[in-house]
Amino acid sequence: METLLFSPYTIRGVTLKNRIVMSPMCMYSCETEDGKVGNWHKIHYPTRAVGQVGLIVVEATAVTAQGRISSRDLGIWSDEHISGFQELVSLMKEHGAKTAIQLAHAGRKAEVTGEILAPSAIAFNERMRIPKEMTKSDIEETIQAFQNGARRAKEAGFDIIEIHAAHGYLINEFLSPLTNQRQDEYGGTAENRYRFLSEVIDAVREVWDGPLFVRVSASDYHPEGLTVKDYVEYAKRMKVQGVDLIDVSSGAVVPAKINVYPGYQVPFAEAIRHGADIATGAVGLITSGLQAEEILRNERADLIFIGRELLRNPYWPRTAAKELGVEIKAPVQYERGW
Ligand SMILES: Cc1cc2nc3c(=O)[nH]c(=O)nc-3n(C[C@H](O)[C@H](O)[C@H](O)COP(=O)(O)O)c2cc1C
Repeated sequence: METLLFSPYTIRGVTLKNRIVMSPMCMYSCETEDGKVGNWHKIHYPTRAVGQVGLIVVEATAVTAQGRISSRDLGIWSDEHISGFQELVSLMKEHGAKTAIQLAHAGRKAEVTGEILAPSAIAFNERMRIPKEMTKSDIEETIQAFQNGARRAKEAGFDIIEIHAAHGYLINEFLSPLTNQRQDEYGGTAENRYRFLSEVIDAVREVWDGPLFVRVSASDYHPEGLTVKDYVEYAKRMKVQGVDLIDVSSGAVVPAKINVYPGYQVPFAEAIRHGADIATGAVGLITSGLQAEEILRNERADLIFIGRELLRNPYWPRTAAKELGVEIKAPVQYERGW
């Protein structure tokens, strides 16, 4: 049987061998607290390449030191970070995977020492610190940091860049009216709240002509927050700006109770795909080959992002292939056990 899950997918000239994507997942494993790639990353990511994942998205990687979630996050805020990523990329590619990096800034959710930045001076909850409302020059510097991060990612050899605009981190904080109460051109209307992301995309596109993904939180799960309808409109704008795929997650902008079940975010990916006529990635409690194949066949998304299941089982592509009755190539060293 021909499956979509195991058929190649080409996006802006980059061909993935299948539709399985390792979702970005923070490892908080920089022992040295300097944002540099270490032994853990060099074992963890290439293992999923050996496991036949088509595209590996390296975890949220901070474009500034102050934009880290924790002091153990990966970072790309200096040229000194490039060589570690070069090595990591070449290890993943050696085993046939394509590679992406998620460029991130944690905004008010940063838990590093010193000043933390956000569009407005509102804390996430009573346990977290009140951020400083960003000035125009903070905004300009941060956009520049995203551009520098993109240039360094290109030098490191990544195939794809993903901008992290989800989960209540900095870009998401600008997009949502719950976290953005600015009075200037970066706040107020939907267009104004989009301005920061728009400028980040343009800045990245100046130095990056490869595939560009953006991860969004398609629902704030709050009566006054954003819904998938708002994100269909934002996705239309992103498409015009040269974004190739929307990776559709949800929530974490404000504390909220989310009812989760298998595929709970898939309807968002489907709505954005059809509403904005743009490729989407589906993510969230997708754990079986059949479930992934259903999403692709019914044209609900173009790529399947797998998170925790790939932590449990780095060879999940093999498991999914068996379930779907297809054979996929084993690394030659493993042929006797595949
Ligand atoms: C340990 C861990 C770390 C995560 N770190 C990130 C991250 O760096 N960036 C991001 O966008 N999502 C992050 N996520 C969310 C995952 O990418 C994914 O969207 C989520 O786990 C739902 O998919 P799943 O049900 O397949 O795990 C993380 C999730 C986990 C479990």
